[in-house]
Amino acid sequence: MRPFLPGIIWMVVAVRLTLTKTELVKVHTKDNPSVSCQKSVTLHCNVSSEENVTIDDLFWSRNHNKRLCAVGNITLHTENTKLQTKNLTTQQHRFVCNYNQTSQLSLSLSLTLQNAQPFDKGTYTCKLFSNRGIKETTADLEFQGSECYKDANESSNDTHRTCTFTGVYPDGEVHWFQGSNNLTGSAQTNTKQVETDGALTVTSSLKREKGTYNCSLWIPSTGVYLASRVTPVLLTFESRSQLGNGGVVTFGPVWKLFWVFFLCHFIFSLV
Ligand SMILES: *[C@@H]1O[C@H](CO)[C@@H](O)[C@H](O)[C@H]1NC(C)=O
Ligand SMILES: *[C@@H]1O[C@H](CO)[C@@H](O)[C@H](O)[C@H]1NC(C)=O
Ligand SMILES: *[C@@H]1O[C@H](CO)[C@@H](O)[C@H](O)[C@H]1NC(C)=O
Ligand SMILES: *[C@@H]1O[C@H](CO)[C@@H](O)[C@H](O)[C@H]1NC(C)=O
Ligand SMILES: *[C@@H]1O[C@H](CO)[C@@H](O)[C@H](O)[C@H]1NC(C)=O
Ligand SMILES: *[C@@H]1O[C@H](CO)[C@@H](O)[C@H](O)[C@H]1NC(C)=O
Ligand SMILES: *[C@@H]1O[C@H](CO)[C@@H](O)[C@H](O)[C@H]1NC(C)=O
Ligand SMILES: *[C@@H]1O[C@H](CO)[C@@H](O)[C@H](O)[C@H]1NC(C)=O
Ligand SMILES: *[C@@H]1O[C@H](CO)[C@@H](O)[C@H](O)[C@H]1NC(C)=O
Repeated sequence: MRPFLPGIIWMVVAVRLTLTKTELVKVHTKDNPSVSCQKSVTLHCNVSSEENVTIDDLFWSRNHNKRLCAVGNITLHTENTKLQTKNLTTQQHRFVCNYNQTSQLSLSLSLTLQNAQPFDKGTYTCKLFSNRGIKETTADLEFQGSECYKDANESSNDTHRTCTFTGVYPDGEVHWFQGSNNLTGSAQTNTKQVETDGALTVTSSLKREKGTYNCSLWIPSTGVYLASRVTPVLLTFESRSQLGNGGVVTFGPVWKLFWVFFLCHFIFSLV
């Protein structure tokens, strides 16, 4: 086997050389695009040709299978008078796609991803079938960060405070705090719902008591509090009277202790 190895290498080099020499149509894209939480990013697939070319099929796909958008039956030729531009329909929501003829013999198929999430990270492939051959190019989309959410909402009715976090990924849960007290154990309805694209809507309700509360979105897999909302004091007639009674009941013993301590301190300092 060994003596043949250099021969094989030469063959590979020769084949590559002839291929590049006859490469009349090219596709290229930016190799390492990146995007962060809830932002958008556009991947361009730029096709350029040195001669007239008929494009039978040109498309963006994810992981070599799911087609995101496609165009076909376009002829690029030197007599083109009007450069076409067109918005295309996409197979998945959050994606917008269009193509623009950038010159007589070149065009750009652009795929825009909106509201990016960590799971959008990965390889996107643009593939061309034409009368001058089959070509493809890939873009490895990076996601900056490990977790993401879209929106945080808090609301109250007569009996409960509710916090809602939408577009959450990866899996999250709501923790409740009043000052440094962790009240997560008292939360009553915790729900999780998978949204159409795979992110989650996470909600939690806490029985309404006096005071200001803080609901925070905890991501167990990365161990961070990603967001928090303060649910305000709501002053209805009922809650105001509860606040008054509650104040006396809770602060009563504390004040008594304080006076006992103060008296003792006074007596000891006299002695
Ligand atoms: C592709 O073409 C677009 C114009 O449609 C341009 O903005 C972009 O920079 C080009 N990308 C590459 C990698 O050449
Ligand atoms: C391209 O044209 C052929 C024949 O005219 C037709 O069968 C085919 O559906 C067209 N493809 C697209 C993507 O429009
Ligand atoms: C390219 O196509 C145009 C329009 O069909 C034609 O006039 C021209 O001769 C073609 N050029 C070549 C090199 O085939
Ligand atoms: C494509 O969509 C954009 C934004 O919705 C719009 O402004 C533009 O006119 C559309 N272009 C075509 C060719 O339909
Ligand atoms: C395509 O062309 C239109 C009109 O010239 C322009 O508004 C749009 O930004 C272009 N899109 C891309 C992706 O280059
Ligand atoms: C969050 O609140 C805003 C404004 O109050 C509202 O428009 C939106 O629909 C709410 N979102 C959810 C998920 O409840
Ligand atoms: C208040 O909200 C909680 C939690 O969403 C719900 O269980 C309860 O039925 C609501 N109460 C009223 C009076 O709407
Ligand atoms: C709050 O309580 C929850 C559930 O009891 C627990 O998982 C979480 O780690 C606590 N957080 C803090 C900051 O103490
Ligand atoms: C809410 O709770 C989180 C988690 O303990 C904390 O990081 C954040 O500072 C609190 N926010 C307010 C306004 O109290």
